[in-house]
Amino acid sequence: MCGIIGIVSNKSVTSNIIQSLKKLEYRGYDSAGIATIVNGDIDEKKCTGRVDNLEKILFKSPSNGPLGIGHVRWATHGVPSQVNAHPHSSEEVSVVHNGIIENSNELKKDLENKGYKFKSQTDTEVITFTLTDLLRKYDLIDAINKTLKKLNGSFALGIIFKKYNNVIVGARRGSPLAVGYGHEENYLGSDSYALKSMTNKITYLDDGDICILSNSKIEFYNSKNKKINKEILTLSDDKHNAEKGDYKDFMSKEINEQDMTAKTCINEYVDHLRQDINLYNFSIKPEEIEKIFLIGCGTAYHSCVIAKYWLEELTSISIEVDIASEFRYRKLKFNKKSLYIFVSQSGETADTFAALDLCKKNNAKTCSIVNMVESSIARASDFVLPIHAGPEIGVASTKAFIGQMLVLYILAIKISEVRKEISKSDYSKKITELKKLPDLISRTLKCQDKIQIIAKDFLESKGAMFLGRGLSFPIALEGALKLKELSYLHAEGYPAGEMKHGPLALIEEGLPVVILAPKDRYFEKTISNMQEVIARGGKVLLISNETNNVISENVRFTLEIPKTEDCLTPFLMTIPLQLLAYHVASLKNYDIDKPRNLAKSVTVE
Ligand code: AGP
Repeated sequence: MCGIIGIVSNKSVTSNIIQSLKKLEYRGYDSAGIATIVNGDIDEKKCTGRVDNLEKILFKSPSNGPLGIGHVRWATHGVPSQVNAHPHSSEEVSVVHNGIIENSNELKKDLENKGYKFKSQTDTEVITFTLTDLLRKYDLIDAINKTLKKLNGSFALGIIFKKYNNVIVGARRGSPLAVGYGHEENYLGSDSYALKSMTNKITYLDDGDICILSNSKIEFYNSKNKKINKEILTLSDDKHNAEKGDYKDFMSKEINEQDMTAKTCINEYVDHLRQDINLYNFSIKPEEIEKIFLIGCGTAYHSCVIAKYWLEELTSISIEVDIASEFRYRKLKFNKKSLYIFVSQSGETADTFAALDLCKKNNAKTCSIVNMVESSIARASDFVLPIHAGPEIGVASTKAFIGQMLVLYILAIKISEVRKEISKSDYSKKITELKKLPDLISRTLKCQDKIQIIAKDFLESKGAMFLGRGLSFPIALEGALKLKELSYLHAEGYPAGEMKHGPLALIEEGLPVVILAPKDRYFEKTISNMQEVIARGGKVLLISNETNNVISENVRFTLEIPKTEDCLTPFLMTIPLQLLAYHVASLKNYDIDKPRNLAKSVTVE
């Protein structure tokens, strides 16, 4: 997703803008640019590709103003190109934007009729010329407010001006934006991660807010043009630094630190002395909940699907799971006795935020399970359950998935205990088993060498199937997603019992099929599904915690994972699937941390 940086200082800002843009690279982008004020004029430089390319341009042609804005663009309107890269400038203003302006075509026609000449295909250039036009008649604040009123859609904006050349203006509607406080300089950014290398004092804008930064102060105005005060937060210092260390890429680091992040998360919620779970600011009485909705996108959605099985197993509450981009358009009947849980690693996913906003507008009770506690979704929820996974940089989510599942499982057993739907002794046993999970993850991570051999089998294949029943089905979905997003192979996650209803037609000689068959109540049925696949030539990788008495002739590979209670097996089954996707992509020499077309945080619809 696009990333915005702005810095106003009493010294040259260019190198800090470049370094901050590099902190935003994890969001995924295809072009970059910067604009500063030099000798009273707007000096704009931009390029396709990485921020390094922009750095090379600046090396040859320095741009050393004390105020500037920078941007990494993930194309929405207009192809990735130098002319479509941000900033978009006129003689008077320069604009960087994250979001989508839905009425850009009609505004563009009006502006062209006034004689404005567009260079790009972007919606952002419409903002540039609208503001330029209004600045001819109005002062700064009025021109900004009148411009924003003309825009339909979402935006986070950073703007600099030829005339007002000592300030940066920011504005937010629907896309995240924050400011940071420095010494004789101030900052504007898409998220705290980009700013935290310069400051730990942050203020988040809310929808409708405008901010005006100079190098000595930051002022805020609401959509009614009224000056307002905003809270200054002190950022938590990340226990886990977001550097690769000795790992080749972030994803391998994040996969291999899952035993540690799981331990951190468990310690945050489990009171070892009292053998109890502490949910801190959980502000709804579990005994009053009649229905729970679980909402997320992608991997976060898969953690919601798993949680449905746990909650149905452990409580009498009715559970509904939904993909956020579907949920936000449903004609829902909201109920005071329902709890709406939003799962999001970044806490900035537009569809998930929109689904949350729909619930808030209907006075529904909301909870978010996030990794970034300062994120928009976290700040908009009635209460937040952090996953404590530390910064996840790899676009493909791994340790955050384990963290999401962990918090959802911890929530499920606590709700069950408060509602007296699980005995005290069973509750205590589950906590004891839970505390063993980090060591079990650590043992499971030792399957890497075998996975590297298995990965070769997937190289030439046209695609792959991942099959499971019950709690293994959502892990099949997640395993397929990992393989898709890292190796660009087509892969399907499917309920094993559904194969006969069509997908069995896909099974042909040599097709890799991953069978997830732990020794649970579905085991025998899943093994017979496996035999149906083998009979049609499928090349089976069987992952189980009980492989001794499985007829394993014609099974291409068997991978044994440690035994634990059924509810916890999904955590262990996930690990080999993450590693499989990783090693197939590595063999293909693909970009592991930044797969093509993908963004870490999808902050547009
Ligand atoms: C995960 O591997 C994917 N990159 C993607 O599906 C991700 O889970 C999804 O975009 C949701 O992101 P979020 O958790 O930050 O809301």
